Amino acid sequence: MAHQATIAFALLSFGIAASFAQTICIPDPVGEIDLNAAGVLTWSASENCPETTYRVLIGVDGSRLFENIIRQPLLEVSSLPYCRYYNYSVTAISDHVLGMENYLVTPYELPGGTDIPIRNFRAAPVEDDLIIEWQTDHRFSYCISFYHLLIYDDQAEQPQSLTVTRPGYFKENVASCTNYRFEITSYYLTTNSTTQAFNFTVPEATNIPSLVEVRQDATTINTTWSLEKYHQNRCEVTALYVNGDRFNATYPIEDTRERPNVQVSISGLRANSMYYFNVSVENSAGVSEAVQLAVQTLPIDWS
Ligand SMILES: *[C@@H]1O[C@H](CO)[C@@H](O)[C@H](O)[C@H]1NC(C)=O
Ligand SMILES: *[C@@H]1O[C@H](CO)[C@@H](O)[C@H](O)[C@H]1NC(C)=O
Ligand SMILES: *[C@@H]1O[C@H](CO)[C@@H](O)[C@H](O)[C@H]1NC(C)=O
Ligand SMILES: *[C@@H]1O[C@H](CO)[C@@H](O)[C@H](O)[C@H]1NC(C)=O
Ligand SMILES: *[C@@H]1O[C@H](CO)[C@@H](O)[C@H](O)[C@H]1NC(C)=O
Ligand SMILES: *[C@@H]1O[C@H](CO)[C@@H](O)[C@H](O)[C@H]1NC(C)=O
Repeated sequence: MAHQATIAFALLSFGIAASFAQTICIPDPVGEIDLNAAGVLTWSASENCPETTYRVLIGVDGSRLFENIIRQPLLEVSSLPYCRYYNYSVTAISDHVLGMENYLVTPYELPGGTDIPIRNFRAAPVEDDLIIEWQTDHRFSYCISFYHLLIYDDQAEQPQSLTVTRPGYFKENVASCTNYRFEITSYYLTTNSTTQAFNFTVPEATNIPSLVEVRQDATTINTTWSLEKYHQNRCEVTALYVNGDRFNATYPIEDTRERPNVQVSISGLRANSMYYFNVSVENSAGVSEAVQLAVQTLPIDWS
């Protein structure tokens, strides 16, 4: 509002200037506006009137980013984001009278050889998935055309190679205990930034067994257990425990990628009796919660 009032006053002053030419000084437009490589905007001064100041407007994409009135014919604009076209408009003002504006529309280019570092890398597991995010300085955000992301998994031979336009990626189905290495490069104009690497290990989790099969006769109970597979949980499995009210057993496990089912055979039992037992698995995260089971042995078949 204040700005519009100033213009109205300037027009009024201009009208008066016709009849009182000696008392009103209309400042000449500023001379050539220039933006140097260090991000300093300069213009040649308007010198025909006393105590001239300059109104500087900076517009981008049709909207006003900055407006100020300054005394010196220069303005540091180096903190503006690179890789955008800015409209720098300068109007000389003397004693409330605005001269004609002059403007320069020019791209603010990234100086050659500038590296765009990746900052604040963050990885967050969300249920079975993993969100990774990173940032670059906001001054470079209009420059980057895409990011190249390489995801190395500690077991896979080939990294996953991706091109993403946003600074993040949602990786589905990550296995517990997997150690990932992420290499990120930002590309802009015709160049690329230095590749930066980050490591992340998916937190460990216990491996809860599930019952596949139960077979019993008068004196034996056989159970088959499947373990969480390697693509779900890579934490190293070491043993399966069977804790019963009348027996205990430990099955040591030599972990392999195949993770075959574990057969548990409990023999020497009494016929026609109910047995209660708990089965749990130990891995690098600890002992899992137990699966509780109640199985009745068969009566002796006298036939
Ligand atoms: C630049 O800004 C000035 C002042 O706001 C405006 O008069 C001019 O039309 C603009 N030029 C372009 C190319 O946007
Ligand atoms: C850009 O990437 C190329 C290979 O793609 C690499 O040789 C070069 O060193 C990279 N440039 C920078 C500045 O990291
Ligand atoms: C990332 O992990 C790799 C392999 O697991 C290792 O060689 C490297 O030193 C780790 N880097 C960091 C920064 O932890
Ligand atoms: C239980 O397993 C043992 C050993 O593998 C086998 O000899 C026996 O026949 C099985 N019993 C039943 C009821 O499946
Ligand atoms: C199985 O585990 C449950 C819960 O921890 C416990 O209450 C129960 O006594 C256990 N049963 C056996 C046979 O150890
Ligand atoms: C089985 O192990 C549990 C816990 O380790 C123990 O409390 C229980 O007495 C043992 N049962 C037998 C029959 O040995």
